[in-house]
Amino acid sequence: MSSIVVIGSQWGDEGKGKIVDYLAQKADVVARYSGGSNAGHTVVVNDVAYKLRLLPSGILYKDKLCILGNGVVINPRVVLQEIAGMKEKGIDTDHLLISDRAHVVFPYHEKQDELQEAALGDRKIGTTKGGIGPCYMDKYARTGIRVCDLMNKEILAEKLKRNLEAKNRLFTKYYGAEPMAYEPMLKDYLAYAEALRPYVADTSVALGKAFDAGKNVLFEGAQATYLDIDYGTYPYVTSSNPTAGNAATGSGIGPRFIDHVVGVVKAYTTRVGEGPFTCELFDKDGDALREAGHEYGTVTGRPRRCGWLDAFMVRYSARLNSMDSLAITRLDILDGFDRIKMCTGWEIDGKAVDYIPADLSILAKAKPVYETFKGWKCDISGVRSFEDLPEEAQIYLKRLAEVVGVEIGIVSVGPNRDQTFALKEFFA
Ligand code: GDP
Ligand code: IMO
Ligand code: MG
Repeated sequence: MSSIVVIGSQWGDEGKGKIVDYLAQKADVVARYSGGSNAGHTVVVNDVAYKLRLLPSGILYKDKLCILGNGVVINPRVVLQEIAGMKEKGIDTDHLLISDRAHVVFPYHEKQDELQEAALGDRKIGTTKGGIGPCYMDKYARTGIRVCDLMNKEILAEKLKRNLEAKNRLFTKYYGAEPMAYEPMLKDYLAYAEALRPYVADTSVALGKAFDAGKNVLFEGAQATYLDIDYGTYPYVTSSNPTAGNAATGSGIGPRFIDHVVGVVKAYTTRVGEGPFTCELFDKDGDALREAGHEYGTVTGRPRRCGWLDAFMVRYSARLNSMDSLAITRLDILDGFDRIKMCTGWEIDGKAVDYIPADLSILAKAKPVYETFKGWKCDISGVRSFEDLPEEAQIYLKRLAEVVGVEIGIVSVGPNRDQTFALKEFFA
């Protein structure tokens, strides 16, 4: 295989950044294809944690080409802060390319995100307030400002004027909020444009050349299957397609270039933000998972909602994404539990189902069917092979692979790059 897509199979924060960093050891290119600064990917190398929002998780290696593809929405302030943060840590970012077709996030998108959420009241989505949804709204309304526009002073000045006038009408007339000023925003974005100019390229062409040269390419998913705008728990989703199919569209390659899809599965389930969560626990098991896993959001610090692993949902996710292998993360978080449960099916009105209903009023009736496993009750963070895992952990993983119908390719037992082992060869 020469290309691998790494995607989240649950509601995000599965450890995609960690798995991408691990697989990147043998990759030449790491490309993001969707989402924006709503992502928070933590990579830990030698106990030093790097929290990445827009920069691809390959950035820590100086010899890998890192790409922010056309499907990503770029907040220049955030990406420049991240670049500066990397430079402070002695990591150079000269190997970064940003698509000239990617859309740009402006402060009016962030404000619109805030106002939309406030107006929804109890029905709020619980967004990261990064302006991601409003930026994609403008993209699909065909009024967005792209990186190539940012690179052209006259076009930027004209499009920003037009867009800000429209947004200010929305802010003042519809939301009764304050308008935003044009001149300071233009000044900031002209400065961002100069700082970003060296990174801007036609990244689809760059990727095409990498494939022609037989390079190994890794696609880094952000968000996850159940936050997908089409297949997530709509409307409690993000505004893009994190699912594997979009790795092609969001980076400007054809679907035949995708050789392998790795679904990252956290050994239990979490969700941050609002929306349905069939296996959510409100009891002491849920609290124990949150505390054992320090489940608080990277971007917003919000406590994550917790539950046992929903293997039924992962099975559906495997089909949607053509998953070839699973990367199981945070297995070590289950070390202290006497017994561990796994949801292996759903029932609606007392009948087993084999689908996830689109209609949230039907989804709300879904009840998890659990199987209970004996806990292993020992520290597995030093284990480096499947055979060396305690028998109870092997049983848990084998049952997971059986329910999902996909083999396990990677197991992660701690946040560090080296606390990982593969059960098969990636990038031969
Ligand atoms: P992402 O958004 O999918 O990249 O995941 P996040 O980085 O938001 O959240 C995953 C968290 O788990 C990060 O803090 C990682 O450093 C950490 N992590 C990843 N894999 C493991 C693991 O196997 N064990 C433990 N204990 N932590 C892990
Ligand atoms: P990574 O890549 C977890 C959630 C938000 C909210 C919904 C919409 O780190 O896994 P948005 O700001 O995208 O409009 O918010 O999606 N969300 C995430 N949850 N991990 C993420 O990214 C997320 N990105 C967005 O909490 O519920
Ligand atoms: Mg995250």
